[in-house]
Amino acid sequence: MLSRRQLYFIACFLVLPLLVWQFVSLSNQYSLPEPRLWTQTICSALLPAKDDTHTLPQKRHRVAVASTFGFHHDVYMSLVWTLERVMARSQTGGTVEVYAPFPFGFGFQDIVEAQQLYHGEVKSPDVLIEVLNNNMGDGGIDLVILGTCEIDLRWGWPEDLLLAWDARDEAHKFKLVCIVHNIKDDGWQSAITEWARRGAIRTSAISEHVAAAFRRSFLIRADSEDISICSAGYENIPIDVHVPVLDIPVAEDHRDRSSRVLSDAVIQGSFNTDRRDYLRIFTELKESLLRDPRVWGYLPLVTEDAAYVVDTTRPDPPFQLFLIGSGYLEIPHELQNMVIIREGLNYSDFYTLISDMDICVPAFSERNGLGTYYEDQASSTFAMAVECNVPILVTERMKASYKYVNDRRAVVTRPAGMREVEALRALRSGDASYFLHRTGISLDSSTAKAAEDMMRGGWRRSEEEFRSFKQDIWKANDGVAERILRDL
Ligand SMILES: *[C@@H]1O[C@H](CO)[C@@H](O)[C@H](O)[C@H]1NC(C)=O
Repeated sequence: MLSRRQLYFIACFLVLPLLVWQFVSLSNQYSLPEPRLWTQTICSALLPAKDDTHTLPQKRHRVAVASTFGFHHDVYMSLVWTLERVMARSQTGGTVEVYAPFPFGFGFQDIVEAQQLYHGEVKSPDVLIEVLNNNMGDGGIDLVILGTCEIDLRWGWPEDLLLAWDARDEAHKFKLVCIVHNIKDDGWQSAITEWARRGAIRTSAISEHVAAAFRRSFLIRADSEDISICSAGYENIPIDVHVPVLDIPVAEDHRDRSSRVLSDAVIQGSFNTDRRDYLRIFTELKESLLRDPRVWGYLPLVTEDAAYVVDTTRPDPPFQLFLIGSGYLEIPHELQNMVIIREGLNYSDFYTLISDMDICVPAFSERNGLGTYYEDQASSTFAMAVECNVPILVTERMKASYKYVNDRRAVVTRPAGMREVEALRALRSGDASYFLHRTGISLDSSTAKAAEDMMRGGWRRSEEEFRSFKQDIWKANDGVAERILRDL
């Protein structure tokens, strides 16, 4: 079983909503510090790694991907998939071996097999150091990738890995790649100094804004007055973004979205009101239903303590909001027929259900004291929606953080002033006039134009659009793997 310390971490972490499916209740037991603001220079600090990948030889040929942490397997196994693909077509080839807790949680092993993410055997993390030290010369492991450095370089192998590195001769040093998730989770970050001093570390994040946060932090450290820190070379640590989007087989548009109204929306994440703004969404849904239940496909309320009932005389399916995650959440009685909770799903069921959705609503809350999903840590909601071909309802702010979804093939952009429920109503009814009326904005304002753009683009995206969008992501991921293997 997990120790208390590990449980604390799981609660703190929340990079992937999946991660907390089973542990959500813990997060309220600890009072966590208010976030410091790092917002000012979110985008300016991210320097993409150099891209002359094809002119330099592959330097790394035996890769160990390792973690002691029972989560984030969807993140590092996605990188394993990319590495296997890239090495399979390289002239000098190479192998990947995985050292991780097994079986993977929530039935992820089925996905690994079905998608052929990895062709080797998953070995115990306990033998990593031994295997690393067994061959310190030619043919030994020359690249170690840690799935969650916040855990793995803190409690996993902080000293042993460094000793193993120091024990090698110059020609056979391995490189360390830290997959990082949350800049605010900094208990391990002092371990970076010695690796940086040796020129032996690089980092990889799942979204651009987390990479930018680390870049900023490294640049600040590089400026430190402490000689042991400013001399370590922090400013030269390469930072990449590998987006964990898999090739999930999405059923051929079996719900035929082309001819019907928007009806199924999903908010995916733990049922924690500090992380997702469920309560505001509920309130706004109730307000909108009170005004015009028929737009949503429901009959007016009969009594105050009743629930809205589907209007069966209408040809269109009623609107439903799916909450997919884990934990407990009280649904207002009015919305009992509209809001549907699905919790604790395994990956197969999860992907199938998400694939059925018309639109994904991130619904990030600003109350999250663990660091926001805009600046400090990345929500996996975006990657999940993309892999299941579900368009995401975003704002410009979200696209500025999660740069990889800044693409109309994958998202529907609402003006920030148009709340999610308003946007869903407008997309469902084909009419955004309520928003214009409520805000009183003039028709030639930039906000009104943004609303018009949203309506013109609609919410449907074709399979081909998604396919080509994902191919672009995979191509960029391949570039990341190539840079890592070439030490660029
Ligand atoms: C996922 O859960 C469903 C039941 O909800 C079950 O039928 C299926 O076998 C499970 N798959 C895995 C991989 O555990």
